[in-house]
Amino acid sequence: MDDGACEVRLRSGAPVWIRQVRSTDAAELQRAFALMSEESQYRRFLTGTPRLTDSQAAYFTAVDHVDHEAYVAHSPQDETYIIGVARFIRYRSDPSEAELAITVADSWHGQGLATALVQVLRERAKEVGVKRFRAEMMADNEPVLRLLRSAGLTGETVTGEMVSGHIDLGEQGPPD
Ligand SMILES: CC(C)(COP(=O)(O)OP(=O)(O)OC[C@H]1O[C@@H](n2cnc3c(N)ncnc32)[C@H](O)[C@@H]1OP(=O)(O)O)[C@@H](O)C(=O)NCCC(=O)NCCS
Repeated sequence: MDDGACEVRLRSGAPVWIRQVRSTDAAELQRAFALMSEESQYRRFLTGTPRLTDSQAAYFTAVDHVDHEAYVAHSPQDETYIIGVARFIRYRSDPSEAELAITVADSWHGQGLATALVQVLRERAKEVGVKRFRAEMMADNEPVLRLLRSAGLTGETVTGEMVSGHIDLGEQGPPD
């Protein structure tokens, strides 16, 4: 089955596999979410979400790969052990744009995994006609701001404690 699987390298050079999410990943997604710190859970969902419910897990894994796409990262040793997820969900009001969300397991932070996931998701989004990612995050979420700025985040707008912005997918991130 072609599930978009590819090997990527972390900053250390260590290999990690990325593939499209499967409906059979629901329980694993719940396990991975339960292991995240409260801060990471809050930053991802912008609300206190102590556990991923069965219906949330089903929604996050029953993707159609066109309007809703998600890639998971797993270690080469165990393809069912998820360590990161990146997804886009298209806006019904404007299908050329999609909301971007990303999460990496706390113990894997700072190694370049989110950077790799965003790159893979970006290529897939372009294939299916998404032209722009939109993202909303807490203004103090430095890791995701750095991640998305490197990916070309622009139009940043601060509203209270939140920042929103977009990434035009035809463009690469800013030069170093
Ligand atoms: C945001 C998140 C996905 C980043 O994942 P990651 O795999 O650690 O990211 P990377 O290692 O690819 O690094 C991406 C950028 O963040 C920076 N970064 C990583 N950890 C950081 C930290 N603790 N403090 C500051 N910057 C940090 C990196 O230096 C890098 O910046 P650069 O592109 O300027 O070099 C991860 O922190 C996470 O899952 N957070 C909780 C959920 C969340 O906030 N999701 C975003 C809302 S949708």
